Amino acid sequence: MPEEAKLMRQIEEKARRTAKLYGYKEIITPVVESYELVAAKAGEEVRARMFTFEDLGGRKVALRPEFTASVARLVATALRNEPKPLRLFCIGSLYRYDEPQKGRFREFWQSNFELMGSEKPEADAEVLLLTNTLMKLAGLKNYAFKVGHIGVLRGILSHEGMTEETQNRVMQLMDKKQHEDAITIVKEAGASAKCLDVLQKLVSMQGSDSAKILATVENLVEDYGTASDAVKNFKEIIKLVSETPEKPKIIVDAGFARGLEYYTGMIFEVYIPELDIALAGGGRYNRLVELFGGEPTPAVGVAHGIDRIMLATQEQKTELKTENGKSVMVVPVNENLAGEALKISEMLRAENVSVETEVMRRKVAKALEDADRRGISHVIIVGERELKEGAVILRDMHKKEQTKVKIENLTETLKSP
Ligand code: HAM
Repeated sequence: MPEEAKLMRQIEEKARRTAKLYGYKEIITPVVESYELVAAKAGEEVRARMFTFEDLGGRKVALRPEFTASVARLVATALRNEPKPLRLFCIGSLYRYDEPQKGRFREFWQSNFELMGSEKPEADAEVLLLTNTLMKLAGLKNYAFKVGHIGVLRGILSHEGMTEETQNRVMQLMDKKQHEDAITIVKEAGASAKCLDVLQKLVSMQGSDSAKILATVENLVEDYGTASDAVKNFKEIIKLVSETPEKPKIIVDAGFARGLEYYTGMIFEVYIPELDIALAGGGRYNRLVELFGGEPTPAVGVAHGIDRIMLATQEQKTELKTENGKSVMVVPVNENLAGEALKISEMLRAENVSVETEVMRRKVAKALEDADRRGISHVIIVGERELKEGAVILRDMHKKEQTKVKIENLTETLKSP
């Protein structure tokens, strides 16, 4: 509907502004994708919810459930020789057969940012910070970043000899907060008592005192080589983000997992207190480009749920600022002046002023009533007497005042704050 479409485009505009601020270039990827590509590392949950069909060429295809696989494939193929770091973003619709409910749709929109080619913590920090910028531009308050590190959990499970398949099952359950079921699978796969104890402790560790939590996690996993390195990396990322002037609110969650299977490092989601669904989600994935036949390319990215950010702005009654709040209607006093009204409208549009021209041939009083009802800020009344002097009447609808303005000065008058 028009009001929703307007809000959605405003959020989209903020995402484009964010891309520009951080130097991300837009790419446009297909809605219909090869099933193999989007299914490869999507994870059980997303895979089961894809819209798939066979095309007329007999190929199994799917409506894209996310952007990351498509971007990774491009980096493995057409953009293979691009210098790194490579910063790419896309905006568009995605499709998942989710159960429709508040903030959960079968067709939804994301702005998706990927930073390719750096394994350093400052790259992870950049993705968190650009997300913070978008939330701020959207006017949201009290949002928090829930941050975890998949390298810690996978590091422990790998050390215990768990296959990737078992690890994936465990992550799926952890993603759904079914921690006991997840630990049962680890137990059945033959994990040591120590491993079970460490996991049990990790899943209950979350809070905003990140330094304290991460120090405890570091002690807990010190015998697990790669998990221990992962905690060090986790600490560096949190330190970098926390030391920026913005200081985004961070909740460290040691037992946090995400459904998508490609993550290898830091993972995060964004929440506001008014909604229990994530406004954005992302993380590091260092092996996807390679999986699609490209050079080994460390990568980190995020997708922002545009529909959910819209919902959040509605929940928090955010006033989104538009560049120039003025809207103009041009009304001729009689049908003989319809041509003049069109001319003036076109002149203003050429100067970048948005104008609606009266096309119903209503009486001025009726047109004003309509303009008022629709929140138009200024009405230009084109009358014979004023035209003879090269002027029109400009009515400020909010102040309910009108003045005579020379046509040559109209643009300037309307553009002044
Ligand atoms: P995701 O967590 O599956 O991650 O989705 C990211 C965001 O898209 C969610 O936080 C949510 O705001 C929105 N979203 C997901 N499903 C729906 C739905 N059914 N209705 C409305 N909004 C939804 C990804 O898609 C990854 N590709 C993110 C990423 C990029 N990781 C690395 N790079």
